[in-house]
Amino acid sequence: MAINEKIATAFNNQVTAELEASLVYLQLSYVLDDLGLVGMRDWMKAQSEEELVHAHKFSQHLLDRDYVPQIGDIAPPKLDVTSAVEAFEASLAHEQKISAMIRELAAIQDAEKDYDSRQLIDWFLNEQIEEESTVQEILDRLRIAGNSGSGILRIDSELGSR
Ligand code: FEO
Repeated sequence: MAINEKIATAFNNQVTAELEASLVYLQLSYVLDDLGLVGMRDWMKAQSEEELVHAHKFSQHLLDRDYVPQIGDIAPPKLDVTSAVEAFEASLAHEQKISAMIRELAAIQDAEKDYDSRQLIDWFLNEQIEEESTVQEILDRLRIAGNSGSGILRIDSELGSR
C-alpha cells in the first residue's frame, strides 16, 4: 500500500535520526580510542554500524512502498565526554531519545491506521528495549568498577569480544 505523507515524513525523520545516532557512536569510539579503551571503542564502532542498519530498515520500507526517502539535516555530534562512564551515559541518553521517537512513530501509525508498517515499528519497539537494557547494564558495571583500572580493563576486554 502506498504510504501517506504524514507517515513518510515521520519515517524520513527516523532515517535521519538513525544516521545521526551512527555518528554519535562513531564519535564516542574516537574518545574511547583516545582513552586506550580499545574494546569499548570497537563496541561503539559496531553500534555505529548497527545504527546504519536501522536507518536502512526505515529507508527500505519507504522504498518498498514506492517512496524515495529523503535524508534530513544532521548536526555534528557534540559530546562532552572524557571517561568510559560518561561515554555510556551519553549512549543511554541517546537511546532513550530514540526510544521516545519510536513510541511517537507508533502513535502516528495508530492514528493513521498504517497497518503495513506495524511489524517494522513493533521490531523497533523491542529493539529499543534491548538496546537500553544493554547499555544500562554496561553502565551499572562501570559504576561498580568505579576508579578501579583493572575493573574497567576487564569490562573493556569483554566488550571488545562483542
Ligand atoms: Fe537505532 Fe540505537 O537506536
